[in-house]
Amino acid sequence: MENIYDNETFFYKYSQMDRSQKGLTGAGEWPTLQKLLPDFKEKTVLDLGCGYGWHCLYAAKYGAKNVTGVDLSKKMLTVAKQKTKEYPVHYLQADIATISFPADSFDIVMSSLAIHYVADFASLIANIKSYLKPEGILLFSVEHPAFTAEGSEDWYYDDNGNILHYPLDHYFTEGLRKTNFLGEKVVKYHRTLTTYLQTLLKNDFTLLDVVEPLPPKDRWHEDGMKEELRRPMMLLIKAQKN
Ligand SMILES: C[S@@+](CC[C@H](N)C(=O)[O-])C[C@H]1O[C@@H](n2cnc3c(N)ncnc32)[C@H](O)[C@@H]1O
Repeated sequence: MENIYDNETFFYKYSQMDRSQKGLTGAGEWPTLQKLLPDFKEKTVLDLGCGYGWHCLYAAKYGAKNVTGVDLSKKMLTVAKQKTKEYPVHYLQADIATISFPADSFDIVMSSLAIHYVADFASLIANIKSYLKPEGILLFSVEHPAFTAEGSEDWYYDDNGNILHYPLDHYFTEGLRKTNFLGEKVVKYHRTLTTYLQTLLKNDFTLLDVVEPLPPKDRWHEDGMKEELRRPMMLLIKAQKN
């Protein structure tokens, strides 16, 4: 099946988003994520679902010895490769759910908004555990379980198009959701907060931080930002392998 990010129309719409045009500063969660980042100096880093490679570039600029970005999308990787030519970053076109590396390959594994595309979170975490070094850091963001539960990822509106509320339903029914993202049907996977956290604990990770980011205060006046204060959209988790 074609990765939606390689679909011509979807890829174009994604390229018009603030986070694609402006990079990390165009992403509402960036100030929160940035505070959670570990020290990259002399570290080996893996970015799962790296997209345009913004996070890879950041890690390299802040001293990472070696950065590997993995993504399924050829189109996303083509853009990423142009950005990081002068840095110790290389890219692999592969499925983050199944890709494997030798044991203890990385000091840091990060992933921004890609893991909700993976069906089997338990086996992903078992894989990550196998190639992350002891005391290595796993830092990832996903769409928040309250955001993904019902499936439409859209508000309920009144007859005049005003927002009424955001639907939360089927929370405990984990699995596939056919959502509407940028006007296209996109398959994602919903899991409960308990699953995200307990899977890490069961795999012997220590939780270092869990954050539901708000947009930065200086952007609250922008169109659409007021709504972002009405329901969580993202979940950031930082954990350490024991
Ligand atoms: C929302 S974008 C995020 C990109 C980037 N991490 C960022 O935050 O700017 C999600 C990315 O995950 C990639 N992706 C989705 N499922 C994947 C999978 N199973 N394996 C590898 N990459 C995947 C998509 O191709 C896309 O580039």
